[in-house]
Amino acid sequence: MKSFSAKSDLQTYLNPLRKKKKKIGFVPTMGALHKGHLSLVKRALYKSDVCVVSIYVNPTQFNDAKDLEGYPRTVESDIQMLRHLSEDIIVYLPTNEDIYGDAVELNDFNFMGLDKIMEGANRPGHFKGVANVVERLFDAVQPKFAFFGEKDFQQLRIIQYLNKKHRWRTTIVPCPTSREHNGLALSSRNQKLSEASREKCGLIYETLKQVKLKFSTNTMENLKLYVEKKISMHRDFIELEYFEIADEITLTPAQKNQKKLKYRAFIAVRVEGVRLIDNIQLN
Ligand code: PAF
Repeated sequence: MKSFSAKSDLQTYLNPLRKKKKKIGFVPTMGALHKGHLSLVKRALYKSDVCVVSIYVNPTQFNDAKDLEGYPRTVESDIQMLRHLSEDIIVYLPTNEDIYGDAVELNDFNFMGLDKIMEGANRPGHFKGVANVVERLFDAVQPKFAFFGEKDFQQLRIIQYLNKKHRWRTTIVPCPTSREHNGLALSSRNQKLSEASREKCGLIYETLKQVKLKFSTNTMENLKLYVEKKISMHRDFIELEYFEIADEITLTPAQKNQKKLKYRAFIAVRVEGVRLIDNIQLN
């Protein structure tokens, strides 16, 4: 399995393949890989001739220094997991200098309001950091396809929007959320939870599924009250950060159910100090 930590070496390897019209598929990650990441990599292997996976914990997307410091870093086992999947995977392990140069200078992006609610409102600067790293990673890899999970749905929408607006010339491939047996969305952060809490976190997806069932017969206000009440009944282990129902395309919070639009419910909670997010398509 090939691995590179310098953009120039990666490009020296990829350029001749691109000239031979090989389709490059790219899965950007922050490591601490789990089955959710592997499902994206499997999609990439299936759809592309060459599969590149980056592992880089991007400091500029963390608005909380403690969160960045505590983010799980398991590069050795990540590489083993990828090797197990396919020896043909190319791993890109950039350094901070490779991505940002000597001094971090972030570009400004206009997200057309897609960043104003939910993750954007609760994690100031988060999407600016994501956009900056994704732009630089795309520039290094120049993928034909890039694979993003629907668990981070707001991130996915923002990347789709920027990809179109800035003509990054890749196709963004959305991939469904992978879940644990109790419905908990797979996340690198889950490994920071105790076994008991991880089990109880099935409540998050259970609540979203109930919202989906109730969606056509309830007002947005009632659905919000339902979620607030349901989560607060379990306040011994879980705390609600936000619950929102939004238009799937514009991410504008929904006031009432307009038949022609597609909606999604979004949730963020804290369990044992760990922030978890999830979402579900409603109609
Ligand atoms: O979703 C992630 O893991 C990260 O936000 C990404 C896209 C790899 C950028 O650092």
